[in-house]
Amino acid sequence: MAVATPRDVTEISPVAALQGEVRIPGDKSITHRAILLNALATGEARIRQSGLGDDCRATIDCLNSLGADIETISDTDLVIRGSGPQGFGEPSDVLDCGNSGTTMRFLIGLLAGLGVYSVISGDSSLRERPMGRVVHPLRLMGARISGRDDGEHAPLSILGGALCGIEYEMPVASAQVKSALLIAGSLASGTTTFRQPAPSRDHTELMLRSQGVEIREDGLTLSIAGPQTATAVDVVVPGNISSAAFWLVAGAIHPSADLLLRGVGVNPSRSGVLDVLRRMGAHIDVRMSGSGAEPTADLRARSSSLRGTRIEGDEIPNVQDEIPLIALAATQARGVTEIRGAGELRVKETDRIAATRQELTRLGALIEELPDGLIIEGPTPLKAADVDSHGDHRMAMCLGVAGLIAEGTTVVHDASCAAVSDPWFWSEIARLSKQNA
Ligand code: S3P
Repeated sequence: MAVATPRDVTEISPVAALQGEVRIPGDKSITHRAILLNALATGEARIRQSGLGDDCRATIDCLNSLGADIETISDTDLVIRGSGPQGFGEPSDVLDCGNSGTTMRFLIGLLAGLGVYSVISGDSSLRERPMGRVVHPLRLMGARISGRDDGEHAPLSILGGALCGIEYEMPVASAQVKSALLIAGSLASGTTTFRQPAPSRDHTELMLRSQGVEIREDGLTLSIAGPQTATAVDVVVPGNISSAAFWLVAGAIHPSADLLLRGVGVNPSRSGVLDVLRRMGAHIDVRMSGSGAEPTADLRARSSSLRGTRIEGDEIPNVQDEIPLIALAATQARGVTEIRGAGELRVKETDRIAATRQELTRLGALIEELPDGLIIEGPTPLKAADVDSHGDHRMAMCLGVAGLIAEGTTVVHDASCAAVSDPWFWSEIARLSKQNA
């Protein structure tokens, strides 16, 4: 059970059973998009069941500093009154994206196309993350962007204005870069066409289309003709599958678990973790509960006997946020799990390949680090240890789940960063833990 202490340390010990219905926050990726794309549209939109962790709050604060009208009316619901691109003005201070890469990359795309001067920055982790992947194509479109390491790292200063469409080959499969290009492309004159090296989550395309924006798609090539102004749409945000994944793994590796997760988003470009866990033998029942552009399902996860698997190629962008967690599941699976082609994990909130190897090794896992992946041998009984989140929300939650099965009391340092994507995670662990089976 979780016990928070003032030193930002959370202690977790194994519990007899994990049972009940889990409270899952709204999808973080979809929430960012619902906020920014409606602030940029014309008209009023109500966003329900959004995931208002620290990252999405950073998006709201930055957009409000640019003159947007975003009102938070509860801990999940928002009203946004959009006035189109003309509704934005020059910010009087640095835009602080906190820990959120999505906020920064989306905003760079937006700021490139607005006729204002701005400076954008974030916390120490975000200032080390690569921004050249968005800065470079936006410069080709005509944005004047400067920053540390020739614009590779924030703080960045952006003098936006009249953009022109380009033809561009994206060097990395990245939904954040794709979204920045679509946002800038909607503000540019002429057509912006770009080819992705592999598919990535398509929430931006789906939301822009629902707002009346035309995007052409030919295999991995996307085109948007600008300028196009979107019309505001109400959004009911599905539950976050990346948050649900912690509970799916907890359910699968705990010997006495039965967890229910309702209304989880199962967009096929995001739900690879379900395929991977089921391939590993996890008992996960999927009952479809909503069939819109962003489909939802009720998921039930129960104790399972897992086997190793291989994850590589085009499956990687679909499951990349869940890889530390899949590695944890693999420590409890029979045989070897091999994850390759996941070098992007080294430039997330922390180097997740190194952090996963380091922290799971402390707990007794047999895990080898590759330049672009991990090899895990299982099953290994885990033993409690002092572990560290490296300031990364997903690492914190992954280690919390590990603590539910590791013998003894696991101490997770820097645990409160879980609130970046799931403000309820630690209290849900305490609520769903049963001391007597
Ligand atoms: C996100 C895209 C992914 C993911 C991140 C959120 C998004 O990054 O890792 O957590 O909301 O677009 P990529 O830009 O590498 O696809």
